[in-house]
This record gives sequence, C-alpha cells and structure tokens, in this order.
Amino acid sequence: MTRDGGEEEAADDGAGESVPPSHPSLADRRPSLAERRGEDFSVYPASEDSALLAGAVTEDLVDADPGRVLDVGTGSGYVGARLAEATGAWVVGSDVNPEACRQARDRDLDAVRGDLVTPFRSGAFDVVVCNPPYLPAQDGVEWDDWFEVAVTGGETGREVVQRLLADLGRVLAPGGAAYLLVSTATGVDAVVEGALDRGFSVVALVDASFPGETLTVLKLVR
Ligand SMILES: C[S@@+](CC[C@H](N)C(=O)[O-])C[C@H]1O[C@@H](n2cnc3c(N)ncnc32)[C@H](O)[C@@H]1O
Repeated sequence: MTRDGGEEEAADDGAGESVPPSHPSLADRRPSLAERRGEDFSVYPASEDSALLAGAVTEDLVDADPGRVLDVGTGSGYVGARLAEATGAWVVGSDVNPEACRQARDRDLDAVRGDLVTPFRSGAFDVVVCNPPYLPAQDGVEWDDWFEVAVTGGETGREVVQRLLADLGRVLAPGGAAYLLVSTATGVDAVVEGALDRGFSVVALVDASFPGETLTVLKLVR
C-alpha cells in the first residue's frame, strides 16, 4: 500500500496461484491516489500487502489447526479466503465498509459489518489477522471516502492499529495468535511497543521492501 498504489492485475507466482504482482513492476503505471479518488473506488483491492500477510500466515499455520479465524478489515476477503482455502479454517471477516462485507461473502466468508473486533464476544477467535489502514494522513488534507478509510490510519498512521491492539486480547482465546501487517510508513517499532505494552510478545515473520516502504508481518502471542 502506498499513496501511489492502484488496483493490480493478478499474476502467476510460479506455483500456479494467482497473486497480486509485486510493487516495482507496477510503479510506473499506477494511478496516483488523487486519480484513484476520481474513480469509483469501493473496496481495497488485494495488493502486495494483502499477499504478504496471506502468505506469511498460511505458512505459519499450514501444519496447525487454526480453529476460528477473524480477518479484521477484510476488504475484498482475499486474505481470509486464502487462509480458509489453505488451512480449512472457519474464517469470518469484519469491515466497516458494507461493500467490502458483500465482496467477502462472495468469497464464501462470513462477514460482519462493524468496527474492528467490537462486534465479537470475548475469546471468540483462535487467530486474528489484520492488514489495517496504516498510512499517515496527508497534512491538512481531509478526505472522507472509502479509499481513505482503507488506507489511512489517522495522523500517525497508527490510530486504527492502536485501537485494535487495545481490544485484541479480549477476543483472542487463550493461546491464540494475531498477525498484523505493518509498514515503515506506520512506524514498526511504535507498533511493537504498543503490542508489548498490551502484554503480547512479538516476532517479525517476514519483511518485504517496496519503493517508499518496507512491509513486515508481526505475530503477536500472549
Ligand atoms: C488496507 S485495507 C485491507 C483489506 C484486505 N484485508 C486486504 O488485505 O486486501 C484495510 C481495510 O480495513 C477496513 N477498515 C478500516 N477501518 C476499519 C474499522 N475501524 N473496522 C473494520 N474495518 C476497517 C477498510 O474498509 C479496508 O477494507
């Protein structure tokens, strides 16, 4: 996800699986954020961050029984659907965007419209995954559209992540784990610190560098 990000055509990852193509090959032909706002944007399209998160989580869980999985901010449902397919897990998605919930249901996920994990009872999930809106808001620019909701994590880029961290432990069952996509644009150390403050231990599973940012998938347990 970058402010120059745009919808990506599926590519073959060499294993016969269709995944979003990597960032560099698209950099030249991506429309700018401003251009995208002129489009009829309704739901965040699966992008390199989505693919990185889905790949890291499926690899981590492939030999486990993940149990009940929540995909927070499910968007198109891409991450949740990949997890369901790879692990056989029951996956439910949550999103504030009603059209995202519709798209996730089209991928055979259960989907609940709501704010982060608030709709769910305590201890409901063994695994929580989230590719949150994480870019810092542009100075002095206030947009109010679904694209902004999908990509912007408030002034610091961490506001949605910090709200998630505050309630994450409640919905995780004992022994559960959460997987969080973070970016250098968000401040990885600050997110790790926030997770540690909430009593999680944190490991970085994978990093990937793209123009303008490095993405990391964090695994949180407690
Ligand atoms: C970066 S997109 C990720 C979409 C999808 N998970 C993926 O990886 O392709 C972030 C998603 O979070 C959703 N979102 C933003 N704020 C939210 C909130 N407070 N509660 C639930 N979903 C939220 C957005 O609508 C968007 O679908």
